[in-house]
Amino acid sequence: MARSSAATTPVAFLCLIAAAGRWAANAFPRSPIGASLGSEHVVEEWGWTPGADRRGAARSSSVLSGGGPSSGSAAGKGGDEVDHSPSLTVVGQDNGVLIGVGRLVMRVANAGGRITSCKIDGVETLTQADSQAAESGATFWTSPQADWGWPPPAAIDTGHYSAKFGEGLVKVTADEDISLRDTTVSVSKTFRPAGANAIEVVYDVTNTGESDVTMAGWQVTRVDRGVTFYPTGQGATPASSFEMNTSLGYSWATYPGVAQKNFGDGAGGWLAHAQTVASTGVLLLQQFEDIGAAQFAPGESEIELYGDPGGLYMELECQGPYTFVRGGGTLSWSVIWKGEVLGAGTAIAEGSADLADAAERLKGQDAREQGRVLLSLPRQLTWGGQDGVSRDRMQHRW
Ligand SMILES: *[C@@H]1O[C@H](CO)[C@@H](O)[C@H](O)[C@H]1NC(C)=O
Repeated sequence: MARSSAATTPVAFLCLIAAAGRWAANAFPRSPIGASLGSEHVVEEWGWTPGADRRGAARSSSVLSGGGPSSGSAAGKGGDEVDHSPSLTVVGQDNGVLIGVGRLVMRVANAGGRITSCKIDGVETLTQADSQAAESGATFWTSPQADWGWPPPAAIDTGHYSAKFGEGLVKVTADEDISLRDTTVSVSKTFRPAGANAIEVVYDVTNTGESDVTMAGWQVTRVDRGVTFYPTGQGATPASSFEMNTSLGYSWATYPGVAQKNFGDGAGGWLAHAQTVASTGVLLLQQFEDIGAAQFAPGESEIELYGDPGGLYMELECQGPYTFVRGGGTLSWSVIWKGEVLGAGTAIAEGSADLADAAERLKGQDAREQGRVLLSLPRQLTWGGQDGVSRDRMQHRW
């Protein structure tokens, strides 16, 4: 989906600086991050003033989501929408930030702007094996791979990203552009609530040169062994080194711990991965625009799975439409992340109707709503060591 870069729309916002600790965890009991706030944090709430017209605040916030895939979904809700809408909490950490929306908490590192952790109810969904640090977490590349070969351009895959914080948003931008065919592009990632327990990651790729370029967005997520599945589409795909099993209308794969690659076409605009954790399991769901074969980047497809040859991790890969972008233009594409701890007894296996139901239920939850925002940051947030982000900078409008 090509759309304008709504995320950078300047908005006027109220910035209320509360005394340290004033917004204690109790004010936001549903936030796992809020519960861990200490007095060393400066807590700021943006965009919503207690006692003020809450509906007014919600309306102004919605400017930020204009043009998004489901931005109209909050329309027509009653006057209590803010009380039930998501809040986004940010806790600064050395070399990264924690971003929480309800029960979902992501860690975003300054290195590569990577999502290095994504927990639902405290349960990790991404691989944490540290022996493959170069290939960990979730990263973003441009597609097709033929444009850059291997390895991926360092500036966007592992290079330093700088962060900005706005009303209901965290935006990280790669410090350096990359060369892409005859031009250069810059990459940024904006994190914002997409529901009570959902985070949308908006990938903006701006053509900073003068030559036109055609490209697609590509999100790559490393997970531990488990069962990956998505609704089966009909589009023709490049040849795969393994085939998925199909059942109940879904394509299924269990990572066998050897190198392999599957090119697939989805049908429902999502892909899911379930893995056993302790006595139960956890489900990670990623939603994106469903595309057909005519929109695939050359040699690529909508959903790709890759097994690490060392047996350490599996990659869940989704791609957006191959899009023509003129010099100065921006390709904007997004993925919504959700998770669920599975009930005991849920069969984590290929062809499991329980799993398919859980994913479909999760997919239907949490239409986008914008709501109150809590930013909680240390007095001096170190973002990458070299580029300490001061509170002054965080308060800039953007
Ligand atoms: C497909 O199912 C067979 C039989 O259960 C299994 O051996 C094989 O590993 C499955 N393939 C994938 C890609 O998961």
